[in-house]
Amino acid sequence: MTVRQGQDCMEPPGKALISAARIRTRVKQLAGEIAVYYRGQSFTIVALMNGSVFFLVDLVRRLPATARIECWTVSSYAGRKSTGKLKGLPQLGVRFKGTRVLVVDDILDTGLTLSKVLAHVRQAGAVDVKACVLLRKGVAREVSCEADWVGFEIGSEFVVGYGLDLDGAYRALPGIRSLTD
Ligand code: XMP
Repeated sequence: MTVRQGQDCMEPPGKALISAARIRTRVKQLAGEIAVYYRGQSFTIVALMNGSVFFLVDLVRRLPATARIECWTVSSYAGRKSTGKLKGLPQLGVRFKGTRVLVVDDILDTGLTLSKVLAHVRQAGAVDVKACVLLRKGVAREVSCEADWVGFEIGSEFVVGYGLDLDGAYRALPGIRSLTD
């Protein structure tokens, strides 16, 4: 499906995959597990924008208020395809030295984004680096990379909604929808 100028965005695209209610329940469970892991320890959340915007908000409201939050706008996708390159990693200097970091992303697909972000944070001296993704695509990773917490396993379809987009559209859909026939 392509987004045309003037197309009515009230009509949900594709087919429903994961409802808003299922997302709510799962995010609550993930937050519970993450809170137990970090109990009593300070940590920094690095959220990858824009795709993880709703996931981040729903997750952090259930995590200790002492967690620091940073949002990094990184991108590797053009339309439905990974470009193989990651743009937008910030200079970290020494501020991550000795810290615990939780990277939050919307989806683990080829593994390129998460692997580069995790390596960047480790290189900056973080001592404990974990990753939480809402979705994990059932595809062969181009780069070996795993997340410590996964919301849902999905197939190889292209998905939108709950922050995920097609060229900027459909992020605000409350559930996840598949655009693959
Ligand atoms: P990689 O391939 O680097 O993918 O693991 C991570 C980033 O690519 C975007 N992505 C998607 N975005 N629907 C989307 O809206 C998808 O099906 C999809 N697959 C990958 C996303 O930005 C993610 O952070």
